[in-house]
Amino acid sequence: MSFKNKTVVVTGGAKGIGEGCARIFHRENANVVILDVDKDAGAALGKKLGDRNLFIECDISNENQVEAAMKSAAEAFGGIDVLVNNAGIMKYASVTDTTEELWDAIMNVNLKGAFLCAKHAIPYMQKQGGGVVINMSSAQAFMAQDKVAAYATSKTAMLGLTRSIAVDYAPNIRCVALCPGGIDTPLNREAFAKSPDPAATEQATIDLHLVQRLGTPEDIGEMAVFAASEKGSFLNGHPIKIDGGIGVKIGGSGAK
Ligand SMILES: NC(=O)c1ccc[n+]([C@@H]2O[C@H](COP(=O)([O-])OP(=O)(O)OC[C@H]3O[C@@H](n4cnc5c(N)ncnc54)[C@H](O)[C@@H]3O)[C@@H](O)[C@H]2O)c1
Repeated sequence: MSFKNKTVVVTGGAKGIGEGCARIFHRENANVVILDVDKDAGAALGKKLGDRNLFIECDISNENQVEAAMKSAAEAFGGIDVLVNNAGIMKYASVTDTTEELWDAIMNVNLKGAFLCAKHAIPYMQKQGGGVVINMSSAQAFMAQDKVAAYATSKTAMLGLTRSIAVDYAPNIRCVALCPGGIDTPLNREAFAKSPDPAATEQATIDLHLVQRLGTPEDIGEMAVFAASEKGSFLNGHPIKIDGGIGVKIGGSGAK
């Protein structure tokens, strides 16, 4: 699956799942452009990748920054072929515990940010005759942990954004949503660390997955590469669950 001379923009690409996507696309010879608010992690990853990469400091919830970043990405490598709309934030709160500020903060990054990045990347894809948008949704588009009101809503809405992009820009531009289960990233490590018993919380999370492990950022990167490649060219508009079988088992039968 060669992405030689193709340019892939990964938002939130400095850490976690975004880093996994950046690494796997880079392995497949893509030029990788990382948009992130974390300058230090972005610079460190750039060094590790070596060639064919560019880090742009960008808050994806700010339209001016996104527009400028997409322009820089396209100018650096001569276009944009793939956008991985990955950057996202998660804070635990039920509906009654969610302040207006928290709701807006989560929606602004997870949903508005993805919309803005698509809005400003798609014209470059159109110019060159095609492209692929990968939207990082979540298993939480189909099921919910407790106290994820804004987060789960944002991830469910991303499936609507995915359909709209697929419908409006077919046939040359495709859009696919990936719905990961629990992945071993700084986001989850922070959530485990904040719980009363981090080890027990991690094990309980692992136990939800039939494969008895958390996913890795690279598990998601491999699927993103496949979905964006020619081999994935029949995928469009729908979500792909990549979640180690979370939610498949509904309980024990009690049978001996
Ligand atoms: N980790 C999981 O278990 C899991 C499961 C399903 C879906 N997801 C989704 O995958 C995506 C990545 O999650 P992760 O676990 O790697 O998170 P993470 O917190 O480990 O990494 C997220 C990255 O996004 C960057 N970022 C945050 N806000 C930004 C902004 N406004 N503009 C640009 N960059 C920003 C951060 O600096 C960081 O580098 C998120 O959209 C998340 O909702 C994660």
